[in-house]
Amino acid sequence: MTQKIMDKRHNTIVNEIVDSIRQVIIRNKVTNTELWLAIDFLNETGRSEHEMALLLQAFFESTTCVARNNESRGSAVAIEGPYFLEGAPEIAHGGEIKTLAEEDGEPIIIRGKVTDVDGKPIENVTLDVWHSTPVGTYSGVMPGIPEDHYRGKLTTDADGLYEVRTTKPVPYQIPHDGNTGKILEGLGRHAWRPAHIHFKARGEGLLEHITQVYFEGEEYVDSDCCTGVCDELVLGFTNENGVKVITKNFVLDAAA
Ligand code: BEZ
Ligand code: FE
Repeated sequence: MTQKIMDKRHNTIVNEIVDSIRQVIIRNKVTNTELWLAIDFLNETGRSEHEMALLLQAFFESTTCVARNNESRGSAVAIEGPYFLEGAPEIAHGGEIKTLAEEDGEPIIIRGKVTDVDGKPIENVTLDVWHSTPVGTYSGVMPGIPEDHYRGKLTTDADGLYEVRTTKPVPYQIPHDGNTGKILEGLGRHAWRPAHIHFKARGEGLLEHITQVYFEGEEYVDSDCCTGVCDELVLGFTNENGVKVITKNFVLDAAA
């Protein structure tokens, strides 16, 4: 039965994709020569490791978030991107994410409350937090930064609260030396993402919730190359004893 439902959904989506592309071909009078250019481009993209994933993530992951946000009573989700790693170090309430002393990052505090859609605090939610280094790279993915840095796993307390200290991430360019970069450049777009913090919230009976926060007034917030920014996720800092504080609350949907 489940397989049959899956087949039906699969067929609907594939038929709609095929139909949409056919309409584009007809509307724009795409020639056979142009179709072969597209075939060669996609073949080349597939031959280069990670490039097809990057291309599809850059152009379509944010659309899956729009689709979910349209239906959900929870707070907004956002793209995961390719740099999440399982197994980040556990960090106690108010503790510190490991950062490199030689990379002089600006200290920040991230805190907030996790509730269900009725406003009830949720205890024991696992909250993965990951973000760029102060020079716009990712630990464990790019060489030279140990994978337990710039990442942490927090757990909400009985009041649904979490808090962690780290350093402020900065904008960075997604890999743009391959076909994703070529497409962006052809469209007159840059490859920058605004500074952001990634989150993945998981807990028993809850729908997995992946999101990001961006910082008010900062560069590229209005021109993210992955079109991943929505207003709800752009937050301002407050100041606490000279340290910047970002408060990100989560409203989580129950699993279906
Ligand atoms: C990121 O947010 O980490 C990301 C998203 C898409 C492509 C590359 C990186
Ligand atoms: Fe990122």
